[in-house]
Amino acid sequence: MTIQQHKIIPIPEVEPRAIIPNQNLRVPGPTAIPPEIMQAQAHQMINHRGPEFSAIMKRVTLRLQYFFQTEAPVLTYPASGTGGQESAIANLFSAGDHVVVITIGNFGDRLAKIADIYGLNVTRISFAWGEAADLTAIEARLKELPPYKAVLMTHNETSTGVTNDVQTLSALVHRLSPDALVVVDAVSSMGCVPLEMDAWGLDVVFTGSQKGWMVPPGIMMIAASPRAWEAQKVAKLPRFYFDWTLARKQLEASWQHPTTPPVSIFYALDLALEMMLAEGRDAIFARHLRAGEYIRTRAKAMGLQLLADHQYVSNTVSSIYFPEGVDGKGLLSALRKEDNIVLASGQGQLQGKIFRIGHLGFFTQADLEQVMDTLEKRLPEFGYRR
Ligand SMILES: Cc1ncc(COP(=O)(O)O)c(C=O)c1O
Repeated sequence: MTIQQHKIIPIPEVEPRAIIPNQNLRVPGPTAIPPEIMQAQAHQMINHRGPEFSAIMKRVTLRLQYFFQTEAPVLTYPASGTGGQESAIANLFSAGDHVVVITIGNFGDRLAKIADIYGLNVTRISFAWGEAADLTAIEARLKELPPYKAVLMTHNETSTGVTNDVQTLSALVHRLSPDALVVVDAVSSMGCVPLEMDAWGLDVVFTGSQKGWMVPPGIMMIAASPRAWEAQKVAKLPRFYFDWTLARKQLEASWQHPTTPPVSIFYALDLALEMMLAEGRDAIFARHLRAGEYIRTRAKAMGLQLLADHQYVSNTVSSIYFPEGVDGKGLLSALRKEDNIVLASGQGQLQGKIFRIGHLGFFTQADLEQVMDTLEKRLPEFGYRR
């Protein structure tokens, strides 16, 4: 085909840009961000190779180490949570390595899928969606498996609203297989509920800025233990963008990134960490616990059924069944259009069966009350009879 034969691409006919109303955004990420953090992002660009950016990176990295509770450097990438999953796998393993993935929902399944795609030999230990990883079952299964390089798991399974007991799971893996690495997806838990990377013996932990950090999507944060760095040295899977060695080298040399960082989101994260320190880690954890209890108590008082109602229920996201006969799609749509309340639908096998309320990062008690009061008011309009 000659150049002349190419079709001219016309200017597209698209909807004009519209003003998006302020919403009570209660999906489990991206989460709402405080006004002062929105403002911090509006600052003019700076040189990412200059001293101002290095000062931000130094503050952010050291403060992230505090929130991760680790002595390991916390690397940051322009990426979402899935980038954390892929980066962990690409840095730790070689094709054919045997790994175990404990999955209790959509994001555990994604970890296993990425490991499959990278050519690892993956054993899945799966649990019903809504359940937590069962320690006795895992112990039995791990004991019968051939040697494995690592056990990968989700801390908080966002698709179901369940928080695994990662501390005990990690101890179990270390007891049964001292050389195996423990890799934890803490995308929707870190900074909201307790997680102590070093004290719990976690080898790799990652999270994403759009969850508990009161920051827009765009920064993935990941740390690796000395054992994981040793594994990284011999791991042969191909990697460039996510090669931890490059990121660490640049961080240690100049508090910079090997590639162009999302500068505006770093402005946001810098301030967010300052605000989180002012609130205090324990106070943040207590606020999330109260939020989880509040949502669950109100849901039950309305006669609603929770997907997870056990000791491992999540304090960052709640999953609630649509009651029998209720037009769930219509309900979520009315909440969004008429009340400016945005809730999340179910994922995968739970699509159409549940809805999810995110209560992580930046929220006030009034935000949560508005959600539950409005839900209570709207449910009968969509067919709910108690
Ligand atoms: C636990 C968990 N892992 C991984 C991801 C994937 O993150 P992202 O959508 O930011 O790529 C999510 C997103 O919700 C998550 O909740």
